[in-house]
Amino acid sequence: MTEPSTPARRSAHDAAHLRTTADAYDAIATVYAELPRDDLATFPLDRAVLAAFAELTRGAGPVAELGCGPGPVTAHLRDLGLDVFGVDLSPVMIRLAREAYPDLRFTVGSMDALDLAGGELVGIVSWYSVIHAPPKELPTYFAEFRRVLAPGGHLLLAFFESEGGPVTEFDHKVTAAYRWPIDELAALAGEAGFAEIGRMLREPCEGERFRRGHLLMRRGA
Ligand SMILES: C[S@@+](CC[C@H](N)C(=O)[O-])C[C@H]1O[C@@H](n2cnc3c(N)ncnc32)[C@H](O)[C@@H]1O
Repeated sequence: MTEPSTPARRSAHDAAHLRTTADAYDAIATVYAELPRDDLATFPLDRAVLAAFAELTRGAGPVAELGCGPGPVTAHLRDLGLDVFGVDLSPVMIRLAREAYPDLRFTVGSMDALDLAGGELVGIVSWYSVIHAPPKELPTYFAEFRRVLAPGGHLLLAFFESEGGPVTEFDHKVTAAYRWPIDELAALAGEAGFAEIGRMLREPCEGERFRRGHLLMRRGA
């Protein structure tokens, strides 16, 4: 069955940038999925934040990786003992994720209009996926994260940090993407009802261009 790349809860006014992102990732999905997927093996600090998130959410209920691409982070979270599924805008990414990890559930959808009931999740991971949200749209994304998370649920964001500069669009290889000052991203999530638990900044390693930001947050009551 072919799935639509725009979920039913999509509102007409914001469909254009989502369509562009979905088409761009559909076009490169096969190449992207064939890239070496050893990122997490190489980066102990990245694994550490995922391990902390897992410790906070394990056994408490379902967790979603939003913007899961071909699924390696979803699989890593499963290996950490979480009841996790993946959601992505790109139907081709979802097909590849299902082929690579047939034991896991992956669905097509947009993280700003999820086909989930209010309070259904205990955790959300967005691993380099909110980077593609136009900055003015990000409050809508965080409002949706708050809607689907139960009170006390956890949110983990990974993104490219702007290293002292303002929110900046950069030349991402696939489609429009933005680097964020970590304080500004934390404040925006705070306005949506998330309290910061902690943060991790990692300097770029060989072959990387930008500082990596990680924010671990908890949904308020
Ligand atoms: C840089 S990739 C990261 C993939 C995966 N998290 C990983 O680290 O391997 C960003 C992914 O986010 C997805 N994405 C972007 N905007 C999205 C949205 N609004 N809803 C769901 N997925 C989205 C893209 O289709 C793409 O697969």
